[in-house]
Amino acid sequence: MQPRELLLPEMGESGKSTLSRLAIVFVVVLLLVTGIVVTLLVLHYLPNNSHGGDGYLIGVGRADCTGPVAEVPFIGYGNMDQIGAGIISRLYSRAFILAEPDNWKKRMVFVSAEIGMMSQRVKLEVMKQLKQKYGDLYNQDNVILSGTHTHSGPGGYFQNTLFMITSKGLIRSSLHAIVNGIVESIDMAHQNMRKGRILINKGILENTQINRSPLSYLHNPESERLRYSSNTDKEMVMLKMIDDEGQDIGMLSWYAIHPVSMNNTNLLTCSDNVGYAAYLFEQEMNKGHLTGKGPYVAAFASSNLGDVSPNIKGPHCINTGESCENLHNYCPIGGAQMCIAAGPGKNIFESTKLIGRNIYLKAKELFMAASEEINGPIGSAHQWVDMTNVTVRLNATHSGKTCIPALGYSFAAGTMDGPGMFNFTQGAIEGDPFWDAVRDAVLAVPSNETVECHRPKPILLPTGELNKPYPWHPKIIDVQIATIGSLAILAVPGEFTTMAGRRIREVIKSEFKARDRPVMNVVLAGLCSVYTHYITTYEEYQVQRYEGASTIFGPHSLSAYIQSFTTLVEAIVKDSVQNLPKSPEPSIFNITDINFLPPVIDTKPPGHHYGDVLQDVQKTYRVGEVAEVKFVSANPRNSVENMNSFTFLTVEKYNNATENWQVLYNDASWDTRFIWEKGFWGQSTAKIEWHIPNDTDPGTYVIKYFGHSKELLKPIVAFNGTSSTFEVSN
Ligand SMILES: *[C@@H]1O[C@H](CO)[C@@H](O)[C@H](O)[C@H]1NC(C)=O
Ligand SMILES: *[C@@H]1O[C@H](CO)[C@@H](O)[C@H](O)[C@H]1NC(C)=O
Ligand SMILES: *[C@@H]1O[C@H](CO)[C@@H](O)[C@H](O)[C@H]1NC(C)=O
Ligand SMILES: *[C@@H]1O[C@H](CO)[C@@H](O)[C@H](O)[C@H]1NC(C)=O
Ligand SMILES: *[C@@H]1O[C@H](CO)[C@@H](O)[C@H](O)[C@H]1NC(C)=O
Ligand SMILES: *[C@@H]1O[C@H](CO)[C@@H](O)[C@H](O)[C@H]1NC(C)=O
Ligand SMILES: *[C@@H]1O[C@H](CO)[C@@H](O)[C@H](O)[C@H]1NC(C)=O
Ligand SMILES: *[C@@H]1O[C@H](CO)[C@@H](O)[C@H](O)[C@H]1NC(C)=O
Ligand SMILES: *[C@@H]1O[C@H](CO)[C@@H](O)[C@H](O)[C@H]1NC(C)=O
Repeated sequence: MQPRELLLPEMGESGKSTLSRLAIVFVVVLLLVTGIVVTLLVLHYLPNNSHGGDGYLIGVGRADCTGPVAEVPFIGYGNMDQIGAGIISRLYSRAFILAEPDNWKKRMVFVSAEIGMMSQRVKLEVMKQLKQKYGDLYNQDNVILSGTHTHSGPGGYFQNTLFMITSKGLIRSSLHAIVNGIVESIDMAHQNMRKGRILINKGILENTQINRSPLSYLHNPESERLRYSSNTDKEMVMLKMIDDEGQDIGMLSWYAIHPVSMNNTNLLTCSDNVGYAAYLFEQEMNKGHLTGKGPYVAAFASSNLGDVSPNIKGPHCINTGESCENLHNYCPIGGAQMCIAAGPGKNIFESTKLIGRNIYLKAKELFMAASEEINGPIGSAHQWVDMTNVTVRLNATHSGKTCIPALGYSFAAGTMDGPGMFNFTQGAIEGDPFWDAVRDAVLAVPSNETVECHRPKPILLPTGELNKPYPWHPKIIDVQIATIGSLAILAVPGEFTTMAGRRIREVIKSEFKARDRPVMNVVLAGLCSVYTHYITTYEEYQVQRYEGASTIFGPHSLSAYIQSFTTLVEAIVKDSVQNLPKSPEPSIFNITDINFLPPVIDTKPPGHHYGDVLQDVQKTYRVGEVAEVKFVSANPRNSVENMNSFTFLTVEKYNNATENWQVLYNDASWDTRFIWEKGFWGQSTAKIEWHIPNDTDPGTYVIKYFGHSKELLKPIVAFNGTSSTFEVSN
């Protein structure tokens, strides 16, 4: 076919008249001119700094941040008996970097780390390292660090005294593992950035969480509650990232749920329900790689989970079995300590997997169906706010003020997910003379101003007035927003309750709208930057359950956050972020190396070596059973270097064809457990369990253990041990 015929098929060979040719030329010119004018108009009315449908530069990375898996108290339940003694799953930092393709300096970083919460110390140290490596490319404005809120990870990475007390000090090995893991995940994401697209999808996940303070929630105005069908947020928001070749790169999602399927008796390091969801997703997307480690990164980040529990059977008295769904979560026999909620499974391990699987399946469904693309500029803003001194406008005539930090009596009561001590109960709006006296004698007498400010909270710990040896609570707090086209991420420094989260999202949404930015999606990223416990609504605060008692800046905290975040929205929209005042800046405290961990001095039983088998595997197992072996062991705290390549264990299968042992599982697998038991005089035992999955291939297997010993006055030495071989059949 001739090109001319293609262009003007009507004309054919016959010619027709010059007139009709002129008419066609005229129409073509007219179309061209119209096209140019329309394009110019469209360009003119687009926001100045926007780019078209070009997608983004996208990078993802995952690095280990597990830290010491023994002898360090877990952070979350505040239970000092919950001290690490092994590992179910590893903890990871997952980083996502998004940049505008034609203005690569406009970028943002989102990190979701499998830790209890982000701490001010971690953030300050991460930012210091990023500055050394990348100058101003990654800065306070555009780097968001969020914790998943697992309650089964080591603490010790805080510089405020309160958290140091429950962590037995500032534990350098824990702090370094987290800081280095986060920086490493960002480095990886930085290095593999490529052009791609982001799709967003949202959906409701039912039967997976419940409100654990429904009577607080009921204190919110009825007119407000009527606008929602549930007392928890059940929407999952999911971002799917694909590159220009259509290759999957990563997935980032937010869902409001406490990762407390593991209760406060668990001593094995574990990323809990959301961690299991990430594990399943990454395993599926990184098929052929060992235990999910591979180029694909999937994160399940925290949101407004303040009053949201995964223990969906609800609170029951563990002695009598009756419900204790009352204002004080109180049991007739044994009081509040007997009132505990459990998950859907027959034990915490099964519950964790059931809840985690639900979360994974919903994300997968949203992932498969995602079609709405996000486009538009990237923006970010950050500010440090002295949260002890914010004046909020309540109405035309009245204003309120935030308070210096303090924790109420009900803080000590804990929750149905992990009750506290000494018969403290939730919903306490009056102190107790005995504990007041103890507080006054041991800590400090709270000032009248503080008492007045926090009302109706009776003050148990006047943390804002305690500064020795270091301030007990942070006062300079981060507020931060990042926008990616039509998506805004609010990085909040603590645990917002369901309704508190709804209120701030709604205000931010309308603030954008009022400024000609109809942002459609506002997500709340929890446990970011610095830990400030809880943020309830003013009405929930009046009830003083655990969440209200833990709202450390007083009844107007939420209003203060809403006000501070609104300032950020204005700065982003007006492109005046650089003019926001940054001061006062928090500092890295100069903390001497004091901690209360026992010293590490290993010894072995006479006549034995580290890694010797003490109790061997059976000769045969069927699928569904647990293969178990015990070794002479050394303190796992010796094994904190090179965590990205180190494993405490492997399960290996003999390959008849190649006559080699092939590693099928390591300690990151949820089917294996490494359980460390300390004996006397520095001796210890490592028990390794392999919960043999139903789909395991029959064959010959072996379990190996790896460790490092440190004897008195000797250097750290690597060792390993191997079980006898065993057969698995189905
Ligand atoms: C807590 O109070 C309950 C009910 O008054 C009582 O049965 C229980 O023994 C108390 N527990 C402690 C540890 O004092
Ligand atoms: C914690 O979970 C374990 C295992 O499911 C269970 O035996 C125990 O009773 C639970 N304890 C508490 C205090 O919830
Ligand atoms: C609190 O803020 C006000 C201004 O908003 C300021 O004048 C005052 O000095 C501040 N107080 C403290 C203790 O920082
Ligand atoms: C303003 O708020 C205060 C405190 O909540 C309240 O007492 C007062 O009635 C309110 N005034 C108006 C005009 O709504
Ligand atoms: C605090 O208030 C109490 C009475 O509520 C009063 O006796 C005391 O003098 C006050 N203290 C200060 C320092 O004002
Ligand atoms: C930190 O404290 C130690 C001991 O008190 C002191 O020797 C050191 O100079 C301090 N470092 C800084 C940077 O202040
Ligand atoms: C592998 O080899 C061993 C010993 O040579 C034999 O007993 C076993 O049946 C073989 N397994 C398979 C799956 O071929
Ligand atoms: C494995 O198989 C057993 C027996 O068929 C079954 O009871 C169990 O639920 C299965 N386990 C899993 C994780 O599928
Ligand atoms: C196990 O230890 C032996 C020496 O004790 C060493 O030769 C070997 O390389 C170690 N194996 C691994 C996998 O580290």
